[in-house]
This record gives sequence, C-alpha cells and structure tokens, in this order.
Amino acid sequence: MPKRRPNWQTRFGFYLLAVGSAFGLGNLWRFPYVVGENGGGAFVLLYLFIGFLVGLPLLIGELTLGKLTRNSVLKATDRLGQNSENGKRFRAVGFLSLFLSLLVLSYYSVISGWVLHFLSLFMAKLVFGREGNWGLVLLMNNGWLQFLLASSHLLIAMFVLFKGVQDGLEKWSGYVMPFFGFLVAILVVRTLSLTPSGDVLRFLFYPDFSKLTYFSLSHALGHVFFTLSLGFGSLVTFGSYLQDHEHVPTVGFRVGLVDTTISLIGLLLIFPLAFKATDRPLTDPALLFDVVPQFFLELPGGTLYGFVFFLCLYLASLNASLGLLENVVSNLTESVKAFSRTQATWVSGLLVLVFAVFPALSTTSFQEVKLGSKSII
Ligand code: PFF
Repeated sequence: MPKRRPNWQTRFGFYLLAVGSAFGLGNLWRFPYVVGENGGGAFVLLYLFIGFLVGLPLLIGELTLGKLTRNSVLKATDRLGQNSENGKRFRAVGFLSLFLSLLVLSYYSVISGWVLHFLSLFMAKLVFGREGNWGLVLLMNNGWLQFLLASSHLLIAMFVLFKGVQDGLEKWSGYVMPFFGFLVAILVVRTLSLTPSGDVLRFLFYPDFSKLTYFSLSHALGHVFFTLSLGFGSLVTFGSYLQDHEHVPTVGFRVGLVDTTISLIGLLLIFPLAFKATDRPLTDPALLFDVVPQFFLELPGGTLYGFVFFLCLYLASLNASLGLLENVVSNLTESVKAFSRTQATWVSGLLVLVFAVFPALSTTSFQEVKLGSKSII
C-alpha cells in the first residue's frame, strides 16, 4: 500500500511551521546587518517593495506546486517537465534546489552552533555563576569546536524530525512558537528602553535614497529569497502537506506578512543593542556575536536578558533548520523508496555534516580558501 502523505493536523500547525521555517537567523542576524550595510531606511523600503513584487508570487508558486503535485521538489519538478521537451532542465532545477538546501543548512548549522555556544555560556553563568570566555575569537580559532557545536545542533534537529511531521514538527512548533513570541515581546520592550530610540528609529525608517547603490538591489533580492526560503524547495514540501480546501494565495500572503513583520521587529530588537554597544549601526555579520554578549554582561540583570536573547535566537535558528532538513528528508523518502523516515533523517544529517566541515574550518584550516574575496562562511 502506498504511504499516505501526512497533512497538518491543524491549520494552525501549518502556519506555525511555515512561518517558523521562514523566520530564522535571516531575520534576527542577517537582515539587521544587511540593512546596516545598505544605509538603513531606504533599503528597508526597497526590501519591502521587492518582497511584495517578486517574493510573494514565488512563495505562492512554490506552495502551489507542492499542493497540486502532492510531492516534494524532486518529484514535483520531474512531473512538471514530463510533457515538455525541456524535461531534463526541470529536473535539474529540482536537484539544484535540494543541493542548495544541503549547502545552506551546513553553514546555517555552524552559525547556529555559535548561538548554542553563547546560550550555554549564559546558562552556565546564570545557573552556576561560572565565567566563560566571551570573545568570538575562541570560536574563530577553533574550527573543530565550531564543527562539534554544529553537529550538536544537527542532532537536536534530527531528534525532532525522527518523530515525523505530525508528532515531531507540528507539536514542536505548537509549543515553541507562542513561547518564542512572548520572549521576543519582552526583549523588544527592554531593548527599546536602552537608548534614546530616536536615532535608531531615524536610521531605520527615515529613507535616505542617496545611500542606495547598485548593489542594494541585489542585496535586497538575495535577502528576500533567503528570508522567505525561496528556491530551496522547502515550500514545495510544506505545500504538499496542505489540505485540499486551503486557498494558497491567502496562505502565502499570511506567511509573507508574518515573516516581514518579524523582520521589522528583529530590527527594533537588534539595532538599539548595536548602537548602544558600538555607537554605530550594525554592519558586520560577526558583530552580533562579538560585542552583544559582552554588552549584556554590563547591564543590570544582563545575564538573564542575554540568556533569553540567545534562547530566542536559538529557537529561531532551530525552526529554520528543521524546515531545511525536513525538505531533504522528505525528498529522500520519496525518491528512495527503501528508506524509512529514520534512515532518511540519518543520511540527510550526515550529508549536511560532511558539507559543514568547510564552513566550520573556514577560519582555521581553510582560512586561505576564498570565494571571490570572501571566506567560505
Ligand atoms: N528563511 C530562513 C531564515 O530567514 O533564516 C532560512 C531558511 C530556512 C532558508 C528554511 C531556507 C529554508 F528552506
């Protein structure tokens, strides 16, 4: 008998997961420094415009492909190309998006490992009063520690996925996302009370178009793809689990809207911290990890605050990682019939780990390897 494709048990379950997967380090870590690099308010407007014009139709398109075919991206693109003379190209697109999931998850796991590191430091200080080494340098000088942390993160994600879509993913998101929303609300209130927020709000929301460059367009487009999880195939997988009566454009619009709102809240959360800690906007990917933890330590009650902050960051990165990993697992179980879900989860996790060696060691053994002028990670 063919395996029945799982549906979300509750409608809310789908939203929790689709939003959970869209919302991740992209919103809390990547978006703030991309906005900082591109000069603030005008870039935020450009991003919103491109998100609506390009991101939303693609988001709806991917969900629709999944819902109509009831397949994950490999099979879905295969079927799309069946009656076309370009069938092979459709297939190649499916493979490419799956490869992208593996690749991105490998570096995503390394960054999630950094988050896990700071989360454990804050926990150790909070519970045992133990001082740690708070600099990012410790991680940068120790590639294998980064690899170990990335592996721990992947194991946690695999553990949730072993249980399947309904018992694992849906239940997990049901517990975590409301808790997450609550924590973020507390953090934003606390953060906005830190600085005279006028400067921050002006930088973020007053558009100075002279700060936009030709590259801003590609940065905005790149970020729209990353934050809405477009082109990875994971939305095809989620769409394939939707129930028949769901109206996909409405679903897509809601997912996009919530993700964008969370990105804007992310700016309000991160920018006051960065301004206060460094007297300038956040323009460097490492800054969040380099200065923010030490800054927390100087605040009254900062250990608890720092712990909650990194817990939020970790939950966000875990949810997004679950989306990426579920995408690989569901494609594997569908394409290799011999694989059970558990086997497919192990194989996917191990594949990601192999790729993760490169970003994890990119500040040590692979320091000399550059992509253009940038290091692997
Ligand atoms: N959208 C996630 C983020 O903003 O962090 C990253 C991501 C998750 C990309 C899941 C792709 C994906 F399938």
